[in-house]
Amino acid sequence: MAAYINLLTELQDGILKITINRADKLNALNTATLEELRDVFAGIIDNTDVKAVIITGAGEKAFVAGADIKEISEVNELTARKFSENGQEVFKLIETCTKPVIAAVNGFALGGGCELAMACHLRVANYNARFGLPEVSLGIIPGYGGTQRLTQLVGKGKAIELMMTGEMVVAEEAKNIGLVNYVTTNEDLMAKCEELLEKILANAPLAIAQVLECVNAAYDPSENGFQTEANSFGICCKTDDFREGVTAFLEKRQPEFKGE
Ligand code: COA
Repeated sequence: MAAYINLLTELQDGILKITINRADKLNALNTATLEELRDVFAGIIDNTDVKAVIITGAGEKAFVAGADIKEISEVNELTARKFSENGQEVFKLIETCTKPVIAAVNGFALGGGCELAMACHLRVANYNARFGLPEVSLGIIPGYGGTQRLTQLVGKGKAIELMMTGEMVVAEEAKNIGLVNYVTTNEDLMAKCEELLEKILANAPLAIAQVLECVNAAYDPSENGFQTEANSFGICCKTDDFREGVTAFLEKRQPEFKGE
């Protein structure tokens, strides 16, 4: 894996841990960091050593405190749309990753940070985590998919409230509204992510990839999700892992999936 300036990457037991590493700026996502994220995720699909991903933030205060406001201040009418589309593209790459991606939210997840967490497949937060889309306080709106993904995750009414007030919610409330899957102590944050991944990775990897594709299709207006599901079901039934899964069940033993 390439060496990055704003990211730390560590591959252990098939889990790629990505740490956004700009702690002095509360891990704010500048363009360089976004491009590094793009590069990592572009390489993950074909990297058979990577089975799953955890994204977290460096330091004790923030997951990611937003897109870099200094860079935003330099955007103009002409460059704004590209700025937004670029972030959307990178986050789509994360959302459509065929391997499970968990956000380990270890503090502030604001603006682009909340949007990054929402682009991941699952979110585990520590008790210090704070979530919010405060863009309207800067005279802008969420531009990295936040208006869409927050609405999908928490529903229209709560999404509108959070985006119009710009207020933060604490981790427990984020869990209550469906923004977060689990809340843990900081000490247990990584262990909880790993525990979830252990359960997921015990299942057939190609089936996991198809689940992600089908769920994403449910939110893509250009897709017929039921058709996608039927196609995906067919794809699964062509795999060796399907044979192994049903054979193991009938032979009353644990399956050994190979991702083939
Ligand atoms: N972009 C760029 N820099 C950021 C940033 C962002 N989104 N969020 C924090 N920083 C920088 C601060 O400018 C500061 O840098 P400095 O030390 O060079 O002055 C450093 O990170 C520490 O932040 P600070 O504001 O001093 O920490 P705090 O504990 O007082 O406040 C927050 C924490 C998260 C409440 C506050 O940083 C904040 O509101 N950040 C912006 C959140 C936001 O609006 N995000 C959406 C952007 S679209």
